[in-house]
Amino acid sequence: MTKVITYGTFDLLHQGHINILKRAKELGDYLIVGVTSDHFDLERGKMNTIDNLMDRIEAVKRTGFADKIIVEEYQGQKIDDIQNYEVDIFAIGSDWEGKFDYLNEYCQVRYLPRTEGISSTKLREDKLNLRIGVIGTGSIAYRFVQEAQYVSGNTISIVYNTSISLAKDFCEKLNIKEYAKDLDEFLTKCDAVYIASPHYTHYYYAKRALESLKHVLCETPFVSSLEQAEELYALAKLNNLNLMVAHKTAYCPSFLHLISLLKSGVIGEIVDVNASITTLTDEKSDKLNSKLFGGSMIENSFFPLLPIFKLMGLNYENINFYSKMKNDVDIYTKGVIKYERSIASFQVGLGVKSEGNMVISGTRAYVYVPAPWWKTDFFEIRFEDINKNKKYFYPFEGEGLRYEIKDFISTIYSNKRRYLKLSKEETLAMVKVQEAYIKKENTYIL
Ligand code: CTP
Repeated sequence: MTKVITYGTFDLLHQGHINILKRAKELGDYLIVGVTSDHFDLERGKMNTIDNLMDRIEAVKRTGFADKIIVEEYQGQKIDDIQNYEVDIFAIGSDWEGKFDYLNEYCQVRYLPRTEGISSTKLREDKLNLRIGVIGTGSIAYRFVQEAQYVSGNTISIVYNTSISLAKDFCEKLNIKEYAKDLDEFLTKCDAVYIASPHYTHYYYAKRALESLKHVLCETPFVSSLEQAEELYALAKLNNLNLMVAHKTAYCPSFLHLISLLKSGVIGEIVDVNASITTLTDEKSDKLNSKLFGGSMIENSFFPLLPIFKLMGLNYENINFYSKMKNDVDIYTKGVIKYERSIASFQVGLGVKSEGNMVISGTRAYVYVPAPWWKTDFFEIRFEDINKNKKYFYPFEGEGLRYEIKDFISTIYSNKRRYLKLSKEETLAMVKVQEAYIKKENTYIL
């Protein structure tokens, strides 16, 4: 029996894929198809697949050519697969001519003619061209525009800032064609809105955008009250729009894997989570202006609350805050959250510096994530017996915003809102904590 193997992403399965699978199958009696995992695609810098792994596997299965489908998860796996499955022929499209000659050592390598005029990239471009309008022109918006270039299927179509000269400068620096004179014009020239304006304006812009039937990606901290957040989510649901909070950590590969590992019980029962994030900030900055929704809790608490809520759930018994104040605003806050059987705490600071790591303690081991844990590419699981310790490494490309942008776009196009990486309930719980703090509930001033 002649065994053939081929690999691909097989996103938006098209005629080119069908032809190559047919040709590969004809080379032998048994065809193995390796479909790249979402994680491996991200690692290779493919930030843009629309179909997720299960959908892509299903699509390959439906062609009827594959006798076996496997998932390609790591660099170097092809050699392992060829040996494990005792493969005779490795086949791939001619666009890869020469690239896999090194496999000749293990089996015969055949480059098959590629079908002209069609590719997943082209289909994605035809299918998706999300025109994203950007509100706000600060440093995070700047990074957002740069990172969006790494994700296909979008164009930054227009920019809005109440200061037209700032909008103009921003467009010139980043080579964006247009800035809007007013919000009405802005909203006619985009399909989705990224909100990176001052915190206290988020609610207004998000509401206007959703009312104008635009999808919304809103920077943290989202809005200042639960009522506002619930209203926005209801509006998004009513109009079948994607409303997402731009919480980059929630979309970052290492964080996602850390959470699923811990959920599977590797450190036993989780008893304590401690996460901290501090950024020394100029006193004159709006971030430290109490009248402008500033302060350490408002600015930074979305970050530590993410692992705490993901790992311990949303049903805590109480939360206490301990704050160091200056000019009416918290320059440092420690929060302690009590659950029935566990505890969590966090430190956030704009005027006090601390170590920005995260430690998650369990009954069998603990996890250490070094600073800056919120954009980490590494963590370690540490046991009593240090020989059992395990280190995990991940890609964290650029500023990391590309992961959330990819998810924002693919959620819109796949219309799948069931398994959001940051759910509405989690977001509402974070807003609720901020609101409790704004109302100074259980708050002790140091
Ligand atoms: N393929 C082909 N003809 C095409 C497109 C792809 O023969 N028009 C082949 C590739 O050479 C590869 C397999 O199909 O052997 C899977 O390729 P994949 O990368 O999934 O498809 P592309 O359409 O090339 O995807 P992308 O545009 O994202 O690179």
